[in-house]
Amino acid sequence: MTRHPTLRTTLLAAAAPLLFSTAALAGEVEVLHWWTSGGEAKAAAALKSTMQAKGHSWKDFAVAGGGGDAAMTVLKSRVVSGNAPAAAQIKGPSLQEWAAEGVLANIDGVAKAGGWDTLLPKVVSDVMKYKGNYIAVPVNVHRVNWLWANPEALKKAGAKVPTNWDEFFVAAEALKKAGLVPVAHGGQNWQDFTTFESVALGVGGAEFYTKALVMRDPATLGSATMEKVLATFKRVKDYTDKNASGRDWNLATAMVIRGEAGMQLMGDWAKGEFLAAGKVPGKDFVCAAAPGTAKAFTFNIDSFAMFKVKGDDKVKAQNDLAAAIMSPEFQELFNLNKGSIPARLSMKMDKFDDCAKLSSKDFVDTAKGGGLVPSIAHGMAVPSAVEGAMKDVVSQFWNDPKMSAKDAMTRLVSAAKVK
Ligand code: GAL
Repeated sequence: MTRHPTLRTTLLAAAAPLLFSTAALAGEVEVLHWWTSGGEAKAAAALKSTMQAKGHSWKDFAVAGGGGDAAMTVLKSRVVSGNAPAAAQIKGPSLQEWAAEGVLANIDGVAKAGGWDTLLPKVVSDVMKYKGNYIAVPVNVHRVNWLWANPEALKKAGAKVPTNWDEFFVAAEALKKAGLVPVAHGGQNWQDFTTFESVALGVGGAEFYTKALVMRDPATLGSATMEKVLATFKRVKDYTDKNASGRDWNLATAMVIRGEAGMQLMGDWAKGEFLAAGKVPGKDFVCAAAPGTAKAFTFNIDSFAMFKVKGDDKVKAQNDLAAAIMSPEFQELFNLNKGSIPARLSMKMDKFDDCAKLSSKDFVDTAKGGGLVPSIAHGMAVPSAVEGAMKDVVSQFWNDPKMSAKDAMTRLVSAAKVK
C-alpha cells in the first residue's frame, strides 16, 4: 500500500522556518484553487471579479487536477518554503490539520462582523473553526450522490432513469446494446471513490455508510453488506469504456453531454460543465439522486482557508476576500456557475435550476431526517492519510480483476487504521 504522509510529517520534514513572503504587491490576494474546467473556471472568475471590484489585485494560483490532489501537493511545498498564498481551497478535517500547524489566520473579526454563526448551518460552521475560531470561509455545498444522464441516449436505448441499483444495471445493459458507453468514468482514485461511496450509500443506506466509512467500524467494514457494496461497485466497471483509465472527470461529463455515454456518477460540479456547454437541465440533461440514495445527501463543502499574512494591506485584502465570499451576491453568482448551492442559509433560490432546488431541499430534509453524510472522496470525513489509504484500496479493487471483495474488505480495515 502506498504510504500517505500526514500533513505534520510533511511539514516537519522541511527544515525551513515558516516565514511568509512580504515581497508581493499591496492589496494583492493570492488564491490557490483547482478550478480549471469550464464550469469551475467560470465560478472562479466570479471570485476574481468580486475582489477586483473592491480594488484588490488578484493573483491566480490555479493547479489543475480534479479533486485537488495536485493542488494540495503544491500547497505543502509552498508552505514549507515559507511562501504560503493568502487563501487556499482546503476542506473538511484537513482544515484542522493545517490549523494545528499554526499557519492559519484567525478571521473571527470578519466572522463576528458578518454574523456568520447565524448565517451558516452548524454542520458547516463547525468545520470552518479551529478551537472555536474561524480559520476558513465556505463557498458552497456540493452534493456528491448524483447521477447525470443524457435523455436522448436513454431514449435511443429504450432505458429510463434508474432509481435503484437493479434498475441501474438494466439501463446500463440497454445502453450497451444500443452501442453507447453506458457509464462515463474517469479512472482516477478520487473518481473511483466518488462512485464507490454512492454505491455504498445506495446499497447499504446512510447508517451503514456512516458506520463503515466515517466511523470505520471494522465489523461493518467486514460485513455482508460491505461485500454486496463491493460486488455492485465492481459491476459498474463492466459498463465503463476501456479508455476510462486516467481520464479527467470533465472529459467524462463531456461524453454524456455529446451523447456518446448515457450516464455519469459524479458530484454536481458536473452540472457546471453541462451549463457551461449551454445545456438546459430537464431538457438536455437529467439530474437524479444516485440509485437508491434519494433520501440521503453526501455533502462536500468547498472552503477557503486563510493563511497568516504580513502587512496591513494584505490582511485587509484577505479580510475583504473572506467577507466577500459570504456575501449573498457572491454566493449566488458563484454557485449558479459551480453547480452547487450556497453555503449561506436563507438564500433566495429563484435564479437556480431544479437540480439546485432539489439539492437545497434535500440538504435541509436530510439534515433533519438523518440522511446527511459527509463525502470521504472529497475530504469531508476522515484524516487525509486515512482517506488516501482507503482510496488506494478501492482503486486497486476496481482495477484488479483478481482481487476478491473479501480481500478488499481486509485491506480496508487496515487502511481505516492508518496513522
Ligand atoms: C471537488 C471539489 C469541487 C470540484 C471537484 C472536481 O473535490 O470540491 O469543487 O472542483 O473536486 O475538481
